[in-house]
Amino acid sequence: MIQFEHLHKSYGEGREAHEVLHDINLDIRKGEVFGILGSSGAGKSTLVRCINLLERPTKGRVVIDGQDVTGASGARLAGLRSSIGMIFQNFSLFQQRTVLRNITFPLELNHVPKKEREARAEQLLDMVGLAGYGDRYPSQLSGGQQQRVAIARALANNPSIMLCDEATSALDSTTTVQILDLLRRINREMDVTMVVITHSLPVARSICDRVAMIDGGRIVEEGETEALFANPQSDILKALIASANAQNTRRADDAVEADTTNSEVK
Ligand SMILES: Nc1ncnc2c1ncn2[C@@H]1O[C@H](COP(=O)(O)OP(=O)(O)O)[C@@H](O)[C@H]1O
Ligand SMILES: [Mg+2]
Repeated sequence: MIQFEHLHKSYGEGREAHEVLHDINLDIRKGEVFGILGSSGAGKSTLVRCINLLERPTKGRVVIDGQDVTGASGARLAGLRSSIGMIFQNFSLFQQRTVLRNITFPLELNHVPKKEREARAEQLLDMVGLAGYGDRYPSQLSGGQQQRVAIARALANNPSIMLCDEATSALDSTTTVQILDLLRRINREMDVTMVVITHSLPVARSICDRVAMIDGGRIVEEGETEALFANPQSDILKALIASANAQNTRRADDAVEADTTNSEVK
């Protein structure tokens, strides 16, 4: 349902031009959670921002539900954007607006009547586990709660696609698990196709049906999550898996050490 066809993206013009995405070809299926995994600067955000045209591809096409959207402008662009929700690492909430008015914001843009948009916001707050928080301000909430508000806001217009750009990278591990569970539930219950950008192997592993590994602006491999991680082909993914395994071993060693220390105290 989301297709990239020979997509290139350069920043800058003329002699300053610098290509950051090279010949990207990718099919993201309707209803799946698709991961874009890669290290910092690989081109993940640029790629995903080409879906809602926050960035314009320099060459190639973006096709959504069979429609070439690459050149969309005006009402068509507005329609495209309102059918795609997006959340970010830093939550990007309006600090001067209450939680409720953050969530009603996209509905205001679409001229939904006040009663209706507030009812919708209350319903979304309930869905993300924040019923009763409508009158608070973002600064009065924890990071995990702020991301829940951002998720509710992203869902206000009933999007068919949600883009998550490092959505859990600013959160601790317990909160990360809770937010990933919520995203998974939204994917299943609301039939929202999710594109999840992450630099984290555990995040990709825990939520994605399929994953594409991106390095230096190129897709270096892709596949079903478990199969891909069980049999990585690219050096970069092999290295990422080795480093995650080493971390796990260290954690296990620490746990054993802590255990031994405890028993010595006894
Ligand atoms: N607005 C921009 N102008 C110029 N270069 C940019 C811009 N945004 C990103 N880049 C460059 O494009 C490359 C890919 O960046 P980005 O898509 O943000 O990577 P990632 O999300 O994987 O960290 C980087 O080299 C970055 O410096
Ligand atoms: Mg990024």
